[in-house]
Amino acid sequence: MIGAVRKVLRYGFELIERPFDRLFGPAMNPLAQLGALGFFFFWIVAVSGIYLFIFFDTGIERAYESVENLTNYHWFHAGVMRSFHRYASDLMVVMVVTHLLREFSYDRYRGARWFSWVTGLPIICLLYASGITGYWLVWDRLAQYVALTSSELLDWLPIFGEPIARNFISTGTLTSRFFTLMVFMHVAVPLFLLFIMWVHILRISRPKINPPRMLALLTLVALIAVSIWKPAVSQGHVDLAKAPVEVGLDWFYLPLYPLTDIWSKGGVWAFLGAFFLMLALMPWLPPLRRARPAAVDLDHCNGCARCAEDCPYEAIRMVRRTDNLPFPTQAQVNNSLCVSCGICMGSCPSSTPFRRTEDLRTGIDLPDFSLATLREQVVATAATLQTSPRVMVLACERGGGAGHVGGTVTLPCVAMAPPSLIDFILSRDLADGVVVAGCAESACYHRLGVAWTKQRFAGVRDPYLRARVPRERIATIWASALEGSRVERDIAGFQQKLAGLPPKKPRRPVSAKPAAPAAGSPRAPAAQELET
Ligand code: HEM
Ligand code: SF4
Ligand code: SF4
Repeated sequence: MIGAVRKVLRYGFELIERPFDRLFGPAMNPLAQLGALGFFFFWIVAVSGIYLFIFFDTGIERAYESVENLTNYHWFHAGVMRSFHRYASDLMVVMVVTHLLREFSYDRYRGARWFSWVTGLPIICLLYASGITGYWLVWDRLAQYVALTSSELLDWLPIFGEPIARNFISTGTLTSRFFTLMVFMHVAVPLFLLFIMWVHILRISRPKINPPRMLALLTLVALIAVSIWKPAVSQGHVDLAKAPVEVGLDWFYLPLYPLTDIWSKGGVWAFLGAFFLMLALMPWLPPLRRARPAAVDLDHCNGCARCAEDCPYEAIRMVRRTDNLPFPTQAQVNNSLCVSCGICMGSCPSSTPFRRTEDLRTGIDLPDFSLATLREQVVATAATLQTSPRVMVLACERGGGAGHVGGTVTLPCVAMAPPSLIDFILSRDLADGVVVAGCAESACYHRLGVAWTKQRFAGVRDPYLRARVPRERIATIWASALEGSRVERDIAGFQQKLAGLPPKKPRRPVSAKPAAPAAGSPRAPAAQELET
């Protein structure tokens, strides 16, 4: 059932996202920058909030007038800031909801990835607490409605000795101290929110917390335009003698408030409790079947730290050496963080399929899909290639290439394939061309797999694709699981291009002498072990 919902939602996101990729470019696609935009809106809200505080009178008698003054007499700076504050807060809600749905639809919240999902839940609560207390401070009719309804809801919970809703029934009983408490909450809760936002991204490496400059600039310009076109305004001074009716609601922050007129207070809490409980359990509904985590083989690890740099999930730490090899550090995998994507295996300098030994070992390997198995699968797949020119596809299991029939080796992530594997395929004449087919560029399932592959091929990230590998015989296709037909078209086009190329140079004869160890290899391989 959950799987079916995820599929439908995924389809919906793809329908919007792929055209966005073409319109904005994968790097600028706002849907791929939702987390970063969340941080960006937070900073806008924080800066505009500090600015507004200069003009805001925190006393209950003067609060409303001070807000009116900034809208009417200082509209060109403080008024615009007020609108900025309001609209950026609204956009944070839009971002959070879209981000949550997108992470769900791409299935990036189960298994070892549960942490960001679960820490996202307090973010929602704190965001709402910040927004709702913000509406109290204006002390207009909407504030009165929000204050009264929130207090009635809170009174239902057995936490306050005395009902707090009484504060809002008449002017005489409302204390300035209570209002000051709300001001304090409106400042303190966002600080805590920022702390949880930081915790939220602790388990992923290189999180995108700043949107690309152009996207940030366009967002700012749009916010300024809307703030001038439709400034945020108040809804008339509080009148505690009258119950507020007919207030204009902010549907981003207050969509549940009208429910209190239909449901009992207990019903609203039950709904909220059930909703959050369901969200909290989602990462285990059903649990993700996990392959065994990556394992380090110290005999082949020289402590170069490439795997730790490339792991997208902060699952590798460099620690002091525990064996007698002459290197200061070694890689150590934290099993509870590892998602078995294999990216570390692709980045290890020891991962070279050219080694002649049967027992092909490397510094860091996946027990359930080792480098040796990968080499075996490549060799076996090569034997099945019939049509000329022969194309081998190295496909990410989550991308559009996974559906390609014939000549395909499927990997958890394309960055699991060390560049030397492509060199191996072409120099051993296992195929005439290699297609590397990963996820859509802006939606890499393992976050950094596409980026690392591109950088390795471009020669700007170790281990890079050697210069001798004929680039015209390699194609990269970045496509989502729903773009299977485009992948087929691109593979057919690549095959045609290969047919027009001059024949490949004859394969290098296998050297009788053992070759030098690969750069950065931790130990000299045994004689006859390595062949370039
Ligand atoms: C203010 C609100 C939030 C901000 C600023 C935020 C920010 C971020 C950022 C920057 C990332 C890393 C993106 C990347 O570089 O790949 C991320 C990932 C993620 N977020 Fe959020 N987030 C927020 C709310 C939420 C909420 C409410 C949920 C869900 C309940 C959520 C679930 C996730 C998940 C599942 C990931 C992916 C982690 C992974 O790839 O393993 N986030 N978020
Ligand atoms: S397989 Fe390697 S890169 Fe992937 S999460 Fe595990 S340790 Fe990190
Ligand atoms: S040699 Fe391999 S396993 Fe060791 S630190 Fe370098 S990349 Fe990691």
